[in-house]
Amino acid sequence: MTTFKKDPTASPRTAQPTMRIPSTGDLALTPARHSGQRYLCLHRRLRTVASARVHAGVAHAENRSTVLPEVRQRGGATGPHCHLIAAGFPTGTAPSGVCTDASANHAKVEGVSAEIDQEKRASARAAAAMVEAGMVLGLGTGTTVAFLVPALGERHLDVTSVATSPATESAACASGLKVVPFEGIDRLDLAIDGSDQVDPQGWLVKGGGGAHTREKIVAAAADRFVVIVSSNKVVDRLRPPVPLELMAFGLDVVRRVIPGIELRRAPLSPDGGVLADYHGEVDDPERLSALFDATPGVVAHGLFPPTMVSAVLIGRGDQVEERPINH
Ligand code: 5RP
Repeated sequence: MTTFKKDPTASPRTAQPTMRIPSTGDLALTPARHSGQRYLCLHRRLRTVASARVHAGVAHAENRSTVLPEVRQRGGATGPHCHLIAAGFPTGTAPSGVCTDASANHAKVEGVSAEIDQEKRASARAAAAMVEAGMVLGLGTGTTVAFLVPALGERHLDVTSVATSPATESAACASGLKVVPFEGIDRLDLAIDGSDQVDPQGWLVKGGGGAHTREKIVAAAADRFVVIVSSNKVVDRLRPPVPLELMAFGLDVVRRVIPGIELRRAPLSPDGGVLADYHGEVDDPERLSALFDATPGVVAHGLFPPTMVSAVLIGRGDQVEERPINH
């Protein structure tokens, strides 16, 4: 739980809300190079980035919408993971994380550990083993797919692939995969992608990396859609936020009709859409999905129904659980 209180040590002119470092591990801090006592402060649940300075173990948020250049360079859809080094914690107790997508005020931060990476790698390699020569594949986006692509490349199969993001396209090309535009192809044999959440029925929340519009088109075009996740993505029920891509035209009408939408301070999607997140309730994903689908101006949303999913491969340690989805 994050609490805000006035910093008693701050001068009146520079007084800022104080963000106590929560014990839930929601916050991750990383030193901002060449910036003295300033740190980057990333809030996992709220997915916000702030610059902060740390005094006596308390992070003082300075500006919740500031992203320092270091993160801009290291984050972003095409950048490598930004490993966060927590500060202001007793040794060994610091939360740490990986910023998998940081742009402007938006940051996707995951608790990171070698175990999670191991689980992502294991599920990705299990999916790569499902691929057969001659297939036309859909490749998703994200850190789990980043394990899939080289695993596929290692198999030296004659496959053709469609990528859902420029990042995946360049990784696939670098791994020797044949990538073609999604034109003149009316179906795919298999699509493989990660997910931010998977509920017991097989509903997904996707789009933490902002690629959900293309990912949904690719998943819907595939005979089989296989989801690859680490075990921390498996949830008992879906929770906000739900990523959205919106038309810029008439944007404020959509925000009035669907309260709870926050725009990401992020570049437009490769298709010119405005990236946003819905922070309201997700108790009934079917009803919410229908609302998004029925609202003109919503290009796509991150709720993927179980009917779209063939199987979920869940990395658990170095094992992989294959969970078929009942339709
Ligand atoms: C990108 C996505 C990703 O598949 C989702 O965010 C999971 O990402 P990761 O594999 O990095 O955990 O939907 O738009």
